Amino acid sequence: MRAVVFHQYGAPQEVMKLASGRDVPEPKRDEVLIKIESSSINAADMHMVRANYLIIRLVLGWFKPAQKNRTLGMDLAGTIQATGKDVEGFQVGDAVVADVRKSFGGAFGEYAVVRASHLVKKPDGVSFGQAATVPISGQAAMMGVLLCEIKPGDRILVNGASGGVGSFGVKLAKALGAHVTAMCSAEKADVVKSWGADEVVDYKTTSAQELQANSYDAVFDTACFESPSRFEGVLKDNGRYVLVGGSFYRMLRLKAFGRWYGRGAQQFKTLTQEVEVTANIERVLEMIARGQIEPAIQRSVSLAEVPSAIESLERRTVVGKIVVNNQK
Ligand SMILES: NC(=O)c1ccc[n+]([C@@H]2O[C@H](COP(=O)([O-])OP(=O)(O)OC[C@H]3O[C@@H](n4cnc5c(N)ncnc54)[C@H](OP(=O)(O)O)[C@@H]3O)[C@@H](O)[C@H]2O)c1
Repeated sequence: MRAVVFHQYGAPQEVMKLASGRDVPEPKRDEVLIKIESSSINAADMHMVRANYLIIRLVLGWFKPAQKNRTLGMDLAGTIQATGKDVEGFQVGDAVVADVRKSFGGAFGEYAVVRASHLVKKPDGVSFGQAATVPISGQAAMMGVLLCEIKPGDRILVNGASGGVGSFGVKLAKALGAHVTAMCSAEKADVVKSWGADEVVDYKTTSAQELQANSYDAVFDTACFESPSRFEGVLKDNGRYVLVGGSFYRMLRLKAFGRWYGRGAQQFKTLTQEVEVTANIERVLEMIARGQIEPAIQRSVSLAEVPSAIESLERRTVVGKIVVNNQK
């Protein structure tokens, strides 16, 4: 089979290559073999190939990724080809969707083995490309939106609105009846508006502190590179701030000291991983199947184009998601 592999850390186009002639993996007793139709590019791929957080070196290997020719790609959609003998509820031919972060990737190839407990069935009417955007970006956005406790008419501020997670954040919040203010760069404002955002604010010219005080019920922040407390003034007294992404260290700090942030009854929270991941994937897939939201796919690329697509994400020229289509 073919797969995109890397054996050292660095610039994606320098260290990643499409290799052929690799063995198709065999499923263990609790796993299934999936023929991958689509995957998507995520911020995690960009961080892992560069190893730009020390924790990545601790997990993948200090000087180079420990497993030779490692394959990235954190989410996938495809069809089951074989099942391990303990697998229940799934059979050969089922169209499925999976988050493969626990195996640190494996989706940028033609086949992957995945534990059955990480699988969700793909509803009819959702394409493989659409489905592949859901396990990481859609799922994280759903978890964030649930923590924002959105009610119809609430005013929500989405920071990092033009990204993979932010695009789902905008669309989910609108589907729940919120008024959405989106923060992103000016060049991406028109596209973000076309996703339904009611207002778009350019974070390069308007800081969070300059927005109207006490006016937001929730802040959904996928681009937390400065202190979350800068949103304290714009949140209502009982508002919720939810850190979905940005600086990993800010996320750790908020997880540890969240209860000391905010004033009055404000709550400052961050995503709780491992909770309801598959349930959230199902929720988002159902909303797509019912036509309530549509993933914001900027373009689709082939396996060979994965390294350049990851570099586009690094250069911040992506609006929404890039999908990898194995039929290309
Ligand atoms: N916890 C989870 O389960 C989970 C899951 C998925 C992602 N994440 C995290 O969520 C974050 C976003 O992921 P993504 O896939 O949406 O990434 P992405 O597609 O690259 O989007 C990043 C967004 O952040 C904005 N941004 C980047 N740098 C910024 C800065 N210095 N100041 C203000 N805004 C900035 C970008 O705005 P412009 O491009 O418009 O400038 C863009 O809207 C990442 O940190 C990722 O690791 C977490």
